[in-house]
Amino acid sequence: MRTPVSRHALIAMLAAGAFTLGACGDAGAPESPTGDTPAPAPAPEPAAERNVDVDAVLASLGEAYMDANRANGERLWRRCQSCHTVNEGGRHMVGPNLYAMFGQQAGGAEGFRYSNALQEADFVWTAVELDEWLANPRTFLPGNRMSFAGLRNESDRNDLIAWLAVATAPEDAADAYEPAQDEPDARDPETDGDSEG
Ligand code: HEC
Repeated sequence: MRTPVSRHALIAMLAAGAFTLGACGDAGAPESPTGDTPAPAPAPEPAAERNVDVDAVLASLGEAYMDANRANGERLWRRCQSCHTVNEGGRHMVGPNLYAMFGQQAGGAEGFRYSNALQEADFVWTAVELDEWLANPRTFLPGNRMSFAGLRNESDRNDLIAWLAVATAPEDAADAYEPAQDEPDARDPETDGDSEG
């Protein structure tokens, strides 16, 4: 004799099991003894608080960037941030971390697997190269793997490059952004409060 009940029983058991699991998941959140809700994870530090000489960075890019609209640049950056980080030690995603990229060899981020095109590229990133790259990545460096259609509007590119230069600039590195001088650099760097305890 068949036992049609057993199937119902099985379904009931599965349903109960699923329900129990769900309940467990809900009850998993820890409660502090005082009854306070746990604080949310701290937000990453806003880029604006970084110790960067903005004017020096912009001057190093060139005249065209001195009065760029960096707020617009930050908005445009949203098109890049699904693939790139800009902070020091930021992780590589689909694209490499871009920290300190200005003045650096193209294809030079450590630990990122570039296409042959970028690995073999022999130039240093300045606003000039970056402008061409962003206008049309495909034609600037054929064979590269960055799938981005390009920013056709020149003033948009200026705004984005200005924002990016400040966002990726190393902190406390104002010297790196001074215009070239006649004498070789023999000055002592200012090191106030740098003594070890
Ligand atoms: C869909 C993902 C994606 C988007 C969106 C994207 N990139 Fe990239 N980017 C990449 C990849 C991948 C590479 C490396 C390409 C290669 O190896 O050929 C790259 C490389 C670069 C490089 C060269 C870095 C180096 O170390 O030489 C720069 C600069 C750059 N991207 C800037 C940008 C900017 C600015 C934007 C937004 C306008 C942007 N990217 C949007 C994926 C992306």
